[in-house]
Amino acid sequence: MQPLAWALLPFLALVSAQWIEYPDFGVATLTHYTLPSGFVAACGCTPASTGFPTAALSQMAYGSSTAYGPSCGRCFNISLMNPVYATPPFYPSVTKYIVVKVTDMCPLSKTGLCNATTAGPNSAGAFLNFDLAYPSSSIPNDFFPSDEALYGYTDFGVWNITYDSVPCIPNWQGANDAAALGSVKALGVGACCPADPTPGNVSNICPSFSDQNGIPPDTSTNSCVTFYPGSYSTYLVLIIIGLVSLAIV
Ligand SMILES: *[C@@H]1O[C@H](CO)[C@@H](O)[C@H](O)[C@H]1NC(C)=O
Ligand SMILES: *[C@@H]1O[C@H](CO)[C@@H](O)[C@H](O)[C@H]1NC(C)=O
Ligand SMILES: *[C@@H]1O[C@H](CO)[C@@H](O)[C@H](O)[C@H]1NC(C)=O
Ligand SMILES: *[C@@H]1O[C@H](CO)[C@@H](O)[C@H](O)[C@H]1NC(C)=O
Repeated sequence: MQPLAWALLPFLALVSAQWIEYPDFGVATLTHYTLPSGFVAACGCTPASTGFPTAALSQMAYGSSTAYGPSCGRCFNISLMNPVYATPPFYPSVTKYIVVKVTDMCPLSKTGLCNATTAGPNSAGAFLNFDLAYPSSSIPNDFFPSDEALYGYTDFGVWNITYDSVPCIPNWQGANDAAALGSVKALGVGACCPADPTPGNVSNICPSFSDQNGIPPDTSTNSCVTFYPGSYSTYLVLIIIGLVSLAIV
């Protein structure tokens, strides 16, 4: 490394949290949670998004500790494999799948399924946990396979899944609803939810607004289309990151 990079390392430590860089396809775990209809969750997506399948993503993969992060608005095709806790093990005869849009963050905790960090996975061995908003008006009530006669209950709680990054348009159920997609400008006070973010494309993904990055959440914008609409300090951070990457290469 160049001397400049060494000199800037303390700054880099200040501005970069250890976010989990995840591939576009892989295994994960799935839980579910209650999201009231019309609720504006961490991504600041429009209330209309709750009319379609949505999920929260575990914090270190979500990419922000406050407000919105780079995973906001992305769509994933998730397929159920098997429940993590089932005795005897349960392998459904059909593979259920659904395309969800990430509209919320599942906060990092010491234990629990959203606790994965770059240092290690959650208790089921996964680095990502999707928390499905369920029940939902857009998801059948029998979405989760079960065998009540054998187990005495229908809700296994935690599932092993595969996930696959897909474009929201046309794959998400809400793809034809501009408001639900998050492509309307007038969201009022709130953050953002890109309509159809392309991974790695800074012009349509949410920046990581995070106290861990030393960047306060910017609630003055209602669109992610303008990257870093914020203050002088956010530009300074960008310049530092740029200098460091230049110095490293
Ligand atoms: C989602 O995954 C299932 C298989 O698990 C596949 O049949 C389906 O075509 C996929 N849908 C999309 C939009 O990728
Ligand atoms: C869930 O998936 C993980 C990772 O693939 C695997 O280690 C674990 O055995 C699976 N759990 C069950 C109950 O099959
Ligand atoms: C997450 O919690 C489990 C216990 O539920 C623990 O075994 C595991 O080490 C934790 N993972 C991290 C990265 O802290
Ligand atoms: C990046 O995003 C912009 C705005 O949505 C889009 O026009 C452009 O095609 C995207 N580029 C790539 C390489 O996906």
